[in-house]
Amino acid sequence: MARDTWRMRVECAEMARQIVPGQFFMVRIPGLSDPLLGRPFALYDIYERDGVPAGIDFGYLVVGKMTSRLSQLRVGDRVELWGPLGNGFPVPEARRLMLIAGGIGQTPFLAVAREALGRRHYGSPQRAVPRSLESVSLCYGVRSSAYQAGVDEFRSVPGLELKLATDDGSNGHRGFVTDLLRGAIESDAPPDAVYCCGPEPMMHAAARLCASHSIACWLSLESPMACGFGACFSCVTKVATPDGWDYRRTCVEGPVFRADQLALGEH
Ligand SMILES: Cc1cc2nc3c(=O)[nH]c(=O)nc-3n(C[C@H](O)[C@H](O)[C@H](O)COP(=O)(O)OP(=O)(O)OC[C@H]3O[C@@H](n4cnc5c(N)ncnc54)[C@H](O)[C@@H]3O)c2cc1C
Ligand code: FES
Repeated sequence: MARDTWRMRVECAEMARQIVPGQFFMVRIPGLSDPLLGRPFALYDIYERDGVPAGIDFGYLVVGKMTSRLSQLRVGDRVELWGPLGNGFPVPEARRLMLIAGGIGQTPFLAVAREALGRRHYGSPQRAVPRSLESVSLCYGVRSSAYQAGVDEFRSVPGLELKLATDDGSNGHRGFVTDLLRGAIESDAPPDAVYCCGPEPMMHAAARLCASHSIACWLSLESPMACGFGACFSCVTKVATPDGWDYRRTCVEGPVFRADQLALGEH
């Protein structure tokens, strides 16, 4: 898809029928003992055959052992998937929805955008999306243009407005993706809901911007996970509760949380 960035397409019709945008799978390679544990990967999108869900596409950046091994798989190889897991992004009820992606944190947003714009339906039973949306835009920031993945697919979604940023200015706005969010917030048509996925400092900056303008904001956390189904508590994050603070498992109660629930920067 881009430098060090790969797509993996898995035939799994039943899982493709069930999943909603923002959910994820634990992925393992059968028979592999190093790494032994699965790794979490978000839905990039489902794909269809004859108009019926046939399988799942993942997009991933090679950062370590599992992602290196995945990039060496060949057509016809088998993987183990556990899922769909987690809560996913809520059905958008906003008028103007803005998606903020940093780096490989873009993966959930192709499906989010398609669902919000009524181009594809997800879940079993299928989720209904209110027709109140006026606009859906995606601000997507990466280090440099070599890492921009899936841009043509985002451009192919009718109605999706795409804004790009690169740290080095090689394509789109030169600077942080949160600069684009700030510009939108200060415009005549600010977003009234923001969904965000990417590196923690970027999500914290986006959450602070939204909080200071009373804009509802959701973050999809990329906490390291060992089991993925609620048993090990390796993925906990601190959240506000009516009684104070508590911990929630990112794999079960997340990975998507309302930003105003989270103790950002604390664990
Ligand atoms: C819900 C969820 C969805 C995700 N979706 C995607 C996706 O769609 N595409 C994608 O490429 N990645 C995604 N990730 C991150 C992905 O799980 C990690 O990149 C992967 O586990 C790395 O495995 P590895 O064996 O290749 O690297 P490892 O050998 O385990 O680690 C390599 C290096 O990466 C660091 N690292 C590992 N995991 C993370 C992390 N979560 N955040 C920051 N640094 C980390 C390690 O500390 C180490 O320095 C997601 C994570 C979560 C929790
Ligand atoms: S990864 Fe084990 S409880 Fe969340």
